[in-house]
Amino acid sequence: MDSEAGRAAVSVRGFSAYYGGKEALRDVSLDVPENCVYALIGPSGCGKTTLLRSINRLNDFVPSFSREGEIYVGGTEVFSLSDRRGTERLRRGIGMVFQQPNPLPISVRGNMALPLAEHFRVPRAEMDARIVDRMKQGAIYDELKDKLRSSALALSGGQQQRLCIARALMLDPPLMLFDEPCSALDPIATYAIEDLLSSLKRDRTIVIVTHNMEQARRVADYTAFFYLGKLVEHGPTERIFSQPGSRLLSDYITGRV
Ligand SMILES: Nc1ncnc2c1ncn2[C@@H]1O[C@H](COP(=O)(O)OP(=O)(O)O)[C@@H](O)[C@H]1O
Ligand SMILES: [Mg+2]
Repeated sequence: MDSEAGRAAVSVRGFSAYYGGKEALRDVSLDVPENCVYALIGPSGCGKTTLLRSINRLNDFVPSFSREGEIYVGGTEVFSLSDRRGTERLRRGIGMVFQQPNPLPISVRGNMALPLAEHFRVPRAEMDARIVDRMKQGAIYDELKDKLRSSALALSGGQQQRLCIARALMLDPPLMLFDEPCSALDPIATYAIEDLLSSLKRDRTIVIVTHNMEQARRVADYTAFFYLGKLVEHGPTERIFSQPGSRLLSDYITGRV
């Protein structure tokens, strides 16, 4: 893929990351095509979260973090953004979903309204229409339409996570980052999120960190395998799992790492 032609949603170029003197990623290059689900897999500590949180500059909040190389999102090199307005604009275009669902301790509606209300004045009717639409996109509307005024904390974990996804959709992010979004959920809630990912990628690009290889197989069009901070292999998911090109990956897939 030619990143200069702008066809990659995310393009990582010679990217290394450090916490103090300790290396977390070494010389990683990869391209995430548009409108796909791209999985980052590998054993704990291999740098998956570090890469994900570099894409939207969340690692800025870790004082010891430093990096070399570049990451392009929609043509912008994210580390070239030098002021807060720039990084805030970047983050507005990137939805992020974490391992633990993180609704605020306010109503379902309040959570949904928040991302938009923070940035824009929106007439109530328009806000309500958008909330309904994005809750439908997030496959949570039917379950919660009678609970808009209830506390988001009263929902099940799976509902909270879909609410957080729907909330992120309020700003129509062309790119979404998911960091092990199902690891706190039961299998049924997990399948609901996996279904949702396939429908979401029609209009946007999704990068997902997962330690669950079956999940990567089910949801990802492309998979990148990391080991000790290095990108070992990446490619179409089917190929990665059916014909691993390295001993490390085949050992990982068969559970020997
Ligand atoms: N805030 C931090 N401060 C210091 N070291 C960190 C921090 N976050 C991650 N690390 C280290 O960086 C390496 C990669 O971590 P991480 O990106 O979280 O891996 P993964 O998500 O694959 O488990 C690990 O060795 C981890 O201990
Ligand atoms: Mg992680």
